[in-house]
Amino acid sequence: MKRMARFTRAVYPGSFDPPTNGHLDLITRGIKIFDELIVAVLRNPDKGPLFSIEERMEMLQEIAAPLGQVRVEAFDGLLVDYATRHQADVILRGIRAISDYEYELQMALMNRKLNPNLETVFMASAESYSYISSRLVKEVYLLGGDIKDLVPPVVQQRLKAKIPV
Ligand code: PNS
Repeated sequence: MKRMARFTRAVYPGSFDPPTNGHLDLITRGIKIFDELIVAVLRNPDKGPLFSIEERMEMLQEIAAPLGQVRVEAFDGLLVDYATRHQADVILRGIRAISDYEYELQMALMNRKLNPNLETVFMASAESYSYISSRLVKEVYLLGGDIKDLVPPVVQQRLKAKIPV
């Protein structure tokens, strides 16, 4: 049976503290298959993020705006509620390595339990970014390592401005 093409909106949630080249890779892949991607930045003051929600959103705007089809927003509360309010069909998450899978599967199944109408789609990151995480980027930067190949230029500048090392 022929199916009508329909608009698909995906939410790509995360802490993005800070955004990395891995995140940018996933956003770039995501917009190839979804009509619209909402990059949803978790408001997580209790986790003590290095960058405020505004700073993380500004960096993501700068990185993602040229791609089109991408909206950057803040969210708190349950992800499934946020996705439903925004009429999203899909939650997009990246898998870098098998070690990510257990946690991601647990979240996907919990989200499905909370809202069976939402599908989680996992996309594999580019191999060349598979070792990058926000946590390691911060650690390497704070210890004086070179992060040029790990994050977009705007993130490198913001890190330097925030914590000159
Ligand atoms: O980049 P992260 O920190 O791995 O992202 C984790 C995130 C934001 C996707 C997850 O913590 C989340 O969805 N938080 C919102 C609260 C929620 O819905 N919790 C139940 C998830 S099963």
